[in-house]
Amino acid sequence: MSNSAIVPWVRKRSKPTCASVPAHVVKFKEVRLYLVERKMGCSRRSFLTQLARTKGFIVDDILSDDITHVVSEDSGSSSLWAWLKGCALENLSKMQVLHISWFTDSMREGKPATIETRHLIQDTSPALQEESASVPVSVISQYACQRQTSTDNKNKILTDAFEILAENYEFNELQSSCLAFRRAVSVLKSLPWTLQCIGATQGLPCLREHTKAVIEEILQCGRSFEVEKILSSERYQTLKLFTSVFGVGLKTAEKWYRRGLRSFSEILVEPSIELNRMQKSGFLHYGDISRVVTKAEALALGNIIDEAVHLVTSDAVITLTGGFRRGKEVGHDVDFIVTTPEVGKEECVLRHLIDSFKKQGILLYSDYRPSTFHVSKLQCQRFEAMDYFAKCFLILRLEATRVDGGLSCAEGDNRGWRAIRVDLVSPPMDRYAFALLGWTGSTQFDRDMRRFARIERRMILDNHTLYDKRKEEFLTARSEEDIFAHLGLEYLEPWQRNA
Ligand code: UTP
Ligand code: MG
Repeated sequence: MSNSAIVPWVRKRSKPTCASVPAHVVKFKEVRLYLVERKMGCSRRSFLTQLARTKGFIVDDILSDDITHVVSEDSGSSSLWAWLKGCALENLSKMQVLHISWFTDSMREGKPATIETRHLIQDTSPALQEESASVPVSVISQYACQRQTSTDNKNKILTDAFEILAENYEFNELQSSCLAFRRAVSVLKSLPWTLQCIGATQGLPCLREHTKAVIEEILQCGRSFEVEKILSSERYQTLKLFTSVFGVGLKTAEKWYRRGLRSFSEILVEPSIELNRMQKSGFLHYGDISRVVTKAEALALGNIIDEAVHLVTSDAVITLTGGFRRGKEVGHDVDFIVTTPEVGKEECVLRHLIDSFKKQGILLYSDYRPSTFHVSKLQCQRFEAMDYFAKCFLILRLEATRVDGGLSCAEGDNRGWRAIRVDLVSPPMDRYAFALLGWTGSTQFDRDMRRFARIERRMILDNHTLYDKRKEEFLTARSEEDIFAHLGLEYLEPWQRNA
């Protein structure tokens, strides 16, 4: 859909539409009201609209530049103003943005009430952050590390569609288009309001023509035909299915697809396919590990790890990271950092833990990767996607009796246990803050923080370190707050990093 179809959206509303032509006698031609539906609700809004019209007020159903008075019941001024600013209005600065109390006063007096300070909904959004001169001045930053993103996604319909488009680009190895949609997802997730008109995308970063066209289509039709076409394509469905198996990456999935295989049963009976150990476990426990893990299950695993590790080292430090640390209620796996206050002592911890799980009979799969970390490697001054810390990718058996409130089981499943994917990583304590930041994620948040460091600060950030290229020195950090401070960024709590 071309952009020309987008622009007239705003223009059309410059003229009063049929819906806003009052059927009643207009007494106050100079006043044109718009009632904000949010918080007020649809039926109360219609009632108040009718009431005002019978009293001689003009009330438009649509927000346009002709409006003189915006009336809201929303006491959260920042979200209201963020929404108004996103509505692509040229006259916003001339409009009165008023609390419902002004409206009720006006209805009582039978004329537009004199505006008093108590009626005004002030724009209290903080002044633009004074970052370094090189950071573009924008209400919403292009970097996720300068936006707060909670788990409350107000634009899920749009982001779900974008995730499918991004994944399809990934399947077709079109990385830059994939990244463009992932960035758009991340921006939409950060909005404290629901995008309801295409005009509201004005001023939002990281939205290209294509992303805007998809938004417009979904807002108008409630669906995207491009997304529906992808979802019904055999290639997408098959690659999605195959890559959902633990140990099956895109290359393997593609290979199987090209050989004409379309289902798990076809793979499992194909004599020429030799599954590796990880894939065998992936298929064996598919039913369990393809189901979400709950927070209660994650906490139960934390207790098991805690008990096992303290038999070996009394001062071990165990931290739940990944999505659960960001406040998510469910995840696809559980991620923990396990370390010791004394540098070097952490090296043996994961092996001891794996032994302990084996003895307890709860180790269903283990892939241990010893540390390849050495301080000299930091000198390479390149960003490393994979970190060098000792880690293990596990599948553990979790008994229902260990979980507060029980397991999240499929209907009819009365085994009393389930398999869960668990990742453990063990950085030395002097690298803990960097590892914690990296493993807390989200992946898109990490990507943007590294991009911000590189482009805006000429620094290299990864899971091991932060290097200042201008000063030619490594910057130390004891906490995540230290890393944000080195980068000149306002600190964001883990639950604000769900980009
Ligand atoms: P996950 O893939 O577990 O993501 O990696 P998640 O955010 O917890 O999502 P769910 O809820 O499980 O689906 C957690 C973080 O660990 C980083 C990833 O980049 C992500 O931010 N990570 C993972 C690493 O830094 N290195 C690794 O080797 C693996
Ligand atoms: Mg995780």
